[in-house]
Amino acid sequence: MNPNCDLICIGMALIDSIIRGFDPEPVSASGYRAVSGSLHVGGEAVNEAVTAAKLGVKTGILCALGPDEAGNLVEQTLAGNGVDISHIVRSGEHSTPVTTMFVRDDGSRKSITNEAHRWNFHPERDLTILEHAKGIILGSLFRAPFDDPDVIAAVLGEAKKRGITVFADTKLPNFRFLTLEDIRDCLPLIDYITPNEDEARYFTKKEDPGQMADVFLSYGVRNVIIKLGGKGCYFHNAEGAVTLPALDIHAVDATGAGDNFVAGFASEILRGSSDKDALRFANACGAICASEVGALTGVKSRMQVLELLRTLQ
Ligand SMILES: Nc1ncnc2c1ncn2[C@@H]1O[C@H](COP(=O)(O)OP(=O)(O)OP(=O)(O)O)[C@@H](O)[C@H]1O
Ligand SMILES: [Mg+2]
Repeated sequence: MNPNCDLICIGMALIDSIIRGFDPEPVSASGYRAVSGSLHVGGEAVNEAVTAAKLGVKTGILCALGPDEAGNLVEQTLAGNGVDISHIVRSGEHSTPVTTMFVRDDGSRKSITNEAHRWNFHPERDLTILEHAKGIILGSLFRAPFDDPDVIAAVLGEAKKRGITVFADTKLPNFRFLTLEDIRDCLPLIDYITPNEDEARYFTKKEDPGQMADVFLSYGVRNVIIKLGGKGCYFHNAEGAVTLPALDIHAVDATGAGDNFVAGFASEILRGSSDKDALRFANACGAICASEVGALTGVKSRMQVLELLRTLQ
């Protein structure tokens, strides 16, 4: 199959096992109770790819899965939503990452990752998927596979050689702890970086979004978007800065709101929108995602997002 994809998402694909209402009191020698337990396909690259495909962009994914049922489930979800899966790496080297997540009544979470999450698959060994791409999203800079400076340099170098726009979402590190200094040569190759506030604080050691953005800009990143959860987002580049307040929605679960935001932003930029219009669209995608349970539930189509924005005018 020749994917001919406009957008390629690269990074983590996994299964979340979500336990709600976990009671730490044992009911038998080895038994515990919880209110519910459910399985969800997830991972940044999966959330971004599925959302972008729903928004009508021809999207492919480059991710690594094990030769197991969990991997089959991830593939089915991707394919069922129209994402090209022909470049997924399935190898016996590791199992598909499974995150166990304990969610408390107040929505706060504790999660457990394992060795499979640090599987540094090598996307740079097969970048033929980039042949027709206009944009790539790094699912998470600072997490596998983008916690290795050589991998980051190879993927971004290839993207830039092909004139591809680079969007880089971020996460706090979990196994390898890179700093901005460690990847200083790669940062000028990023067109848009999109950390949330905690991540931006962690990497820049600054408190104010303007100062955080200044640090990224000083390293040569061209545009900085800081996602501010229920406070909206902050955009900064050489021409100036703008803050967009969040949409006034009833938030029930912000899981994946950032991934929906990035997918919405990238897909509009690839359609030729201005930064400002793409930001408005992305802000709406994040809000829609947060208004329903699950990362892949809220956003259904580009029309739905445009309709919401129209009603706000
Ligand atoms: N409560 C909310 N109300 C309205 N919009 C929201 C809300 N929470 C998130 N959003 C929208 O979603 C965007 C991304 O959310 P957030 O800042 O939580 O990203 P994130 O922490 O990267 O999320 P994740 O990593 O879980 O995908 C925000 O910038 C905002 O536009
Ligand atoms: Mg995020």
